[in-house]
Amino acid sequence: MSRIIKPTIITMLFLVGFGCNTTKTPSHNKGISKSNSPFDAKIDSLMNLMTLQEKIGQTVMYSGDLTVTGPVVSNNNQKYVKEGAVGAMLNVFSAKATRDLQKIAVEDTRLGIPLLFGYDVIHGFKTIFPINLGLAASWDLEDIKKGSRIAAQEASAEGIHWTFAPMVDISRDPRWGRISESAGEDVYLASKIGKAYVEGFQGDDLSKHNTILATAKHFVGYGAAQAGREYHTVNMGQDELWNVYLPPFKATVDAGVETFMTAFNELNGVPATGNKYIFRNILKDKWNFKGFVVTDYFATNELVMHGYAKDRKEATKLAMEAGVDQDMMSNANHEYLEELVNEGQVDIELINDACRRILLTKYKLGLFDDPYRYSDKQREKEVIYKPEFLEAARQSAAMASVLLKNDDTSLPLNKTQTIALIGPLVKDKENIIGNWAAEGDRKGKAISIHQGIQEYLEDSKIVFAKGCDIEGNDESGFNAAIQAAKTADKVVMILGENYKMSGEAASRSSIKLPGSQTNLIKAIRKAVPNKKIVLVIMNGRPLDLSEEDILADAILETWFPGTSGGYGVADVLFGAYNPSAKLPVTFPRTIGQIPIYYNMKRAGRPNHNDNPNERYSSNYIDVRNSPLYAFGHGLSYTNYEYSDITLSSTTISFSDTLSVSATITNTGDYDGYEVVQLYIHDKVGSLTRPVKELKGFKKVFIKKGETITVNFDLTVEDLKYYNADLKFGVEPGEFQIAIKGTSDFDFKHSFKLE
Ligand code: NOJ
Repeated sequence: MSRIIKPTIITMLFLVGFGCNTTKTPSHNKGISKSNSPFDAKIDSLMNLMTLQEKIGQTVMYSGDLTVTGPVVSNNNQKYVKEGAVGAMLNVFSAKATRDLQKIAVEDTRLGIPLLFGYDVIHGFKTIFPINLGLAASWDLEDIKKGSRIAAQEASAEGIHWTFAPMVDISRDPRWGRISESAGEDVYLASKIGKAYVEGFQGDDLSKHNTILATAKHFVGYGAAQAGREYHTVNMGQDELWNVYLPPFKATVDAGVETFMTAFNELNGVPATGNKYIFRNILKDKWNFKGFVVTDYFATNELVMHGYAKDRKEATKLAMEAGVDQDMMSNANHEYLEELVNEGQVDIELINDACRRILLTKYKLGLFDDPYRYSDKQREKEVIYKPEFLEAARQSAAMASVLLKNDDTSLPLNKTQTIALIGPLVKDKENIIGNWAAEGDRKGKAISIHQGIQEYLEDSKIVFAKGCDIEGNDESGFNAAIQAAKTADKVVMILGENYKMSGEAASRSSIKLPGSQTNLIKAIRKAVPNKKIVLVIMNGRPLDLSEEDILADAILETWFPGTSGGYGVADVLFGAYNPSAKLPVTFPRTIGQIPIYYNMKRAGRPNHNDNPNERYSSNYIDVRNSPLYAFGHGLSYTNYEYSDITLSSTTISFSDTLSVSATITNTGDYDGYEVVQLYIHDKVGSLTRPVKELKGFKKVFIKKGETITVNFDLTVEDLKYYNADLKFGVEPGEFQIAIKGTSDFDFKHSFKLE
């Protein structure tokens, strides 16, 4: 046990890895270094030709007006581009628009340096995949990679070089609207998923015309906004920062991500966009990141609103010194940087470094060879909405749908029965593609759930009633819905949020179904007490479904499933795809439990048996501690029985690999995929450890009646964490371990590290 190990030994053990003390005062030029890339000589000769203004120009990004993703300010894009004062643009897309603007940069400026075109390609470009939280629910890294490859192919054909994704902010507060854009609450899962996105967008060769730069965002802590309120304050200790919020970003650096974006929030009193500690010390120095950092939209200016800079000029200086290379939309670098350098307030080496980093990405993309290679009308026509892309989106939608509950095998549906299809989202094509749906079509191209069900069921067997709207108190449609329910054999209700209720600037203070929807399901339950009600929900966050859990016989969580969502969801409803998704985030019983996540700390007075009546224990007096649906939970149409695990040894040394396996039998009537999860618990640490930690998972196919063995190899690397001195390492002691299909279990096995 770590307590009886001498501190000297602990210190030695912790010296394994890259962690070291980071509390020293950061210097302005930490992390400045050449990339050692094959393009260095070219960059050197180009930079020798560049004036200070032209170098500053590379550090400036403006927005076009094809989409609005932040406060609108009038700017003179074309004029600035012509002056060589702009390095990148966002919100300009299509082969034509990007080609036209690129032409100005290349032909009308002194050095003809091409522009970078960036855009929010978050879960698809035209062919929209399920929202990111849904993609995370598939736990299918290959599918996530494939989806982002497809997004890159479509976006690149429209002139986009760079996506502002993936968002790898750990998200543990369902009130926060941007949880929809995340991979959920878990460090390990989010890290793997972040890597998969980067590999998908960037491919194996950035010089190919169909690969795009990825962005790890938002560095760092954005998901921990107080009270789930958008853009709000973040205060966290080093344990949480280093062991929870930083690791997914480190995983993207290891995967070769080319750019980082700053977060809007302050972190422990210092706004991220002016935060040297995170950009210079951690990202550029410790992690040796060679790509470039862009601010979030307007974020340099916001240093003033935060109360961190007295004016925009000081904000410009602070951001540059913090290690931020490009200014998105603040018009700050453009306006003040030259003056700051001339006054000796900003070291020119900072600008050289920023400019060099930005130019490097342009070389890597091949833009100096052919600045128009991405703006290709022919390719645009060929790749957008390719049938195989739409088919891939259908499969992703099926893989993302989590079966939360299925009493008495209410699902799958039977093709011979009459179904009452009730709810405001039955025929919806507008919301189904989710909030940040890039250029996705909210009308014709999206497939509603109604259309999906029509693939399986004749129209004569479908009775439709809308019942109510998503929002508002109008219950005048209830009677028609009740009649529909009465005439059908089974009821399927499609309820949820609208797409504007999640995503950026969409925090909610309630996480219940909005409007009269819960009343609608109550009314139907009352009218047809003996009929099966299947609830299908579409939403961008974990909802409080405590009432619905009692009212419905089955619940299928489909998130916002995307362009082919209606087909994919119907595939699950009718059993063509046996659900395999597992929650990447906890669903609370009530908003009062937030934040709630599976890998919490235990506290000095742990509550036992989930008992609200246990006095003087860490609990609530009015609700159990357990969630409604746990992280990792997700049912199937079949059953998987897990055997006890087998360990290769119950004691391992620091150089050993522990082999742990379980046999899993498919005891039901369907073949299926199961996401097998490996959890550990480090029983005693010099910093307290979470009650459970995911350390591995495998998605395996098991035929009905079949038994398979799933094996994981665990090394000391998997057990490491940052201690109080920010040393990354591992302490000897006892670890509990389990292989399960959910995080909701009690450990029975353990091993010792000696
Ligand atoms: C603000 C968002 O926070 C960020 O994620 C996005 O990439 C930018 N706007 C650009 O649209």
